[in-house]
Amino acid sequence: MNEQLESDLLGQVAEAADLLQLEAVRVAALGKQGRVTALLKSLGAMSPEQRLNEGPRIQALRHSVTNALGLRRAALEAAELDRRLATERLDLTLPADEPPTGSIHPVSQVMDELAEIFADLGFAVAEGPEIEDDWHNFTALNIPETHPARAMHDTFYVESRPRDDEGGRLLLRTHTSPVQIRALTTHGAPLRVIAPGRTYRSDSDATHTPMFHQVEGLVVDRGIHMGHLKWTLEAFVRAFFERDDVVLRLRPSYFPFTEPSAEVDVGFTWNHGRREIGGAEPDGWMEILGSGMVHPAVLRNAGLDPDEWSGFAFGCGIDRLAMLKYGMTDLRAFFDGNLSWLRHHGFGALQVPTLSGGLSR
Ligand code: PHE
Repeated sequence: MNEQLESDLLGQVAEAADLLQLEAVRVAALGKQGRVTALLKSLGAMSPEQRLNEGPRIQALRHSVTNALGLRRAALEAAELDRRLATERLDLTLPADEPPTGSIHPVSQVMDELAEIFADLGFAVAEGPEIEDDWHNFTALNIPETHPARAMHDTFYVESRPRDDEGGRLLLRTHTSPVQIRALTTHGAPLRVIAPGRTYRSDSDATHTPMFHQVEGLVVDRGIHMGHLKWTLEAFVRAFFERDDVVLRLRPSYFPFTEPSAEVDVGFTWNHGRREIGGAEPDGWMEILGSGMVHPAVLRNAGLDPDEWSGFAFGCGIDRLAMLKYGMTDLRAFFDGNLSWLRHHGFGALQVPTLSGGLSR
């Protein structure tokens, strides 16, 4: 009877055409409900003599079936591998799919360049909150209650319950100048910082967006004068535009927090119908920043004695710097989140034209 079962099972093993069928044969023979398993279980009910006789025969059957299963499995696996080697092909000459990668926004790129240029000149980077209070954004900067910058049409005020501390009502900072006050009250003098960041004004057209970016510069020390301001701005602009022949023009201006104040223009030359920053003899001028000597009242508001300390400050639009250096024409596109614009104007993470990276485009 065992002989019959054995030749039955070995026949099934030999006939199994693939691994799935072979597994079915194995389960039917050696699985929990398998026929060989049933025989093994029957040993328990046998008399010792019977068991002595039947035990080795059933074990031999089990071995024989297990062995056949193993051999058949190996044969089927080898055949399957041969089939795949014969049919599957990988064309290594096909172009690979490129995984999508993000890019560095021109504003971030320019902020990095600014931090790097000014770090070389010994400036640290300072920060302040985008939701500011009246004191830091206006009052401490010597901007009187009646100044037009306070009018509703310029400033976004933040709805809030009356605050009982000294700061006054909350608003979205309209410039980075409040960081002057914060940096000076935190660190005192001497001080050399830039403060890049977001600023907000209720304004929108091709050259104005309600949110934009500025970088503030502030130097306070003993004996600082306009010459330091002009030299620093020239060094900055030449490093930023990567040309030694950039000419600056300082025009007298007015800011409540600087005295004297100057607006700064850079010279440009026409090159094949395009304005190019630089040129020893400029064809025209473009305004890039506001600046001046820190007003004594501002120093006093930040807790410094204006008889001991003096300083200069400047504020510059970062988006405009990016447009001038990298050639975009519409400011609004900076903040549209349009992917094709970003792919075109963005920078690869490992291909940024930083000074230290040695790349430019
Ligand atoms: N805060 C001024 C502005 O936003 C710029 C400025 C900064 C001018 C520092 C002078 C000194 O227009």
